[in-house]
Amino acid sequence: MKGIDPALSRTRSFTRRGDRMPRTHQAAWDRLAAQAVLDVPRPRPGSTLVDPAYRLDPEQVFGRQAPLVVEVGPGSGDALVHAATTHPEVDFLALEVWRPGIGHALAKMGEQALPNVRFVEADAAPVLTTLLEPGSVHEVWTFFPDPWPKNKHHKRRLVDAEFADTVADLLPPGGLWRLATDWAAYAVAMRQVLDPHSRWELVGTDRAPLRPVTRFERRGTEAGRSITDLTYAVR
Ligand SMILES: C[S@@+](CC[C@H](N)C(=O)[O-])C[C@H]1O[C@@H](n2cnc3c(N)ncnc32)[C@H](O)[C@@H]1O
Repeated sequence: MKGIDPALSRTRSFTRRGDRMPRTHQAAWDRLAAQAVLDVPRPRPGSTLVDPAYRLDPEQVFGRQAPLVVEVGPGSGDALVHAATTHPEVDFLALEVWRPGIGHALAKMGEQALPNVRFVEADAAPVLTTLLEPGSVHEVWTFFPDPWPKNKHHKRRLVDAEFADTVADLLPPGGLWRLATDWAAYAVAMRQVLDPHSRWELVGTDRAPLRPVTRFERRGTEAGRSITDLTYAVR
């Protein structure tokens, strides 16, 4: 496919949308991105990839040792900002490809960036295979990933067997992957991938404790869809 980085072997779970943001979000980006959005080495400028030789050191980035939660696709950051505000003792690393979402999340923080949140503007699927030390993450969150409901687009869904391996590598035994979706068919697909997966065990279907109601959840519920929460632990 023209324009797609050759290093990307996987069909992407997103389409690149514009970088334009509302004025207040752009202002928050201009004010806070230098602190909160990590300037990581890229294979080429503007790429959604990170140089695979680069390893992020959370202790250096956050300036302390703390449990690290990785959120994949925080969108406009409802869960992220809520969790980071109510749990200052936990560090949060968010991987998001949509810059206006990051701008929106930063705008929710106010004048100052939250000291326990950092963003990497990147495609989580390839990037999480190299970005972090294996076994170094406390929890991974994937809330309301893009559902790609049409059959011909299912291969774009983020949660597949390959990504399940990537996430399993990040966590120690017992580490949790929390997922939520408002698409029943995606919930079934997640279970079809993860229930028989040798490295994962389903440990809960209750709502993730720190997950607030987001725009996507509200939209799903209003459209008559029910929400599925799934929590898996690494064996
Ligand atoms: C449907 S939104 C959900 C946002 C948020 N989790 C919520 O519950 O409100 C999915 C988000 O995942 C992001 N996304 C999709 N694929 C991604 C990937 N491979 N890496 C990082 N972010 C991704 C999209 O840009 C979008 O912001």
